[in-house]
Amino acid sequence: MKILIIYYSMYGHVHQMAEAVAQGAKEVPGAEVELRRVPETLPEAVLEKMGALEAVKAFSHVSLATVDELASADAIIFGTPTRFGNMCGQMKQFLDATGQLWASGALVGKIGSVFTSSATQHGGQESTILSFHIPLLHHGMLIAGLPYFFQGQMRIDEITGGSPYGASTIAGTSGERMPSENELAAARFQGKHVATLAMKLFG
Ligand SMILES: Cc1cc2nc3c(=O)[nH]c(=O)nc-3n(C[C@H](O)[C@H](O)[C@H](O)COP(=O)(O)O)c2cc1C
Repeated sequence: MKILIIYYSMYGHVHQMAEAVAQGAKEVPGAEVELRRVPETLPEAVLEKMGALEAVKAFSHVSLATVDELASADAIIFGTPTRFGNMCGQMKQFLDATGQLWASGALVGKIGSVFTSSATQHGGQESTILSFHIPLLHHGMLIAGLPYFFQGQMRIDEITGGSPYGASTIAGTSGERMPSENELAAARFQGKHVATLAMKLFG
């Protein structure tokens, strides 16, 4: 049973969440879990202005995703930073290259799940995840979120990401806040949840 975690990260927040999702998925015996980054689409000069060239070195060892390998996975968990309340362009461009998979129904019946990061607490985490579900539904995927059974999403004693739609982290407007232990726990829970479902369906 194979799980792909496909993400884009500019400053490392989604990358840390992706690693936690992978940890959770690997807790399910028999789950083969792979991390992949989607290719960068912004010119280097723009990335430099965004202060993104240094941060990316921390996860440049993660292999780039290819569209073809999606068909070999039983479940795909996508991670994206919020961009204006939506997925990032790099991820959209990757998804826009999956037309052949759509035409052949290659992803029908696979599990899809999404996690995210935004700068601000109410900056569009839920809209990013929910709007990401639309292309997954067009592919015929089964959507999995983050059940309220993960009780950390009900905390009000500290600021935290996480909703029934998926795990999330709040990065701060300068990216100064890294994922909290509660947010990483949500990501691990989501990874394990998806792997458990995939094992029931495909194991
Ligand atoms: C073009 C652009 C648009 C963004 N839009 C939002 C937004 O709508 N809401 C928000 O809270 N943060 C927004 N952000 C902040 C990013 O979501 C934040 O940098 C990201 O979650 C950090 O994750 P990363 O380190 O994995 O890249 C935006 C950032 C950029 C560059």
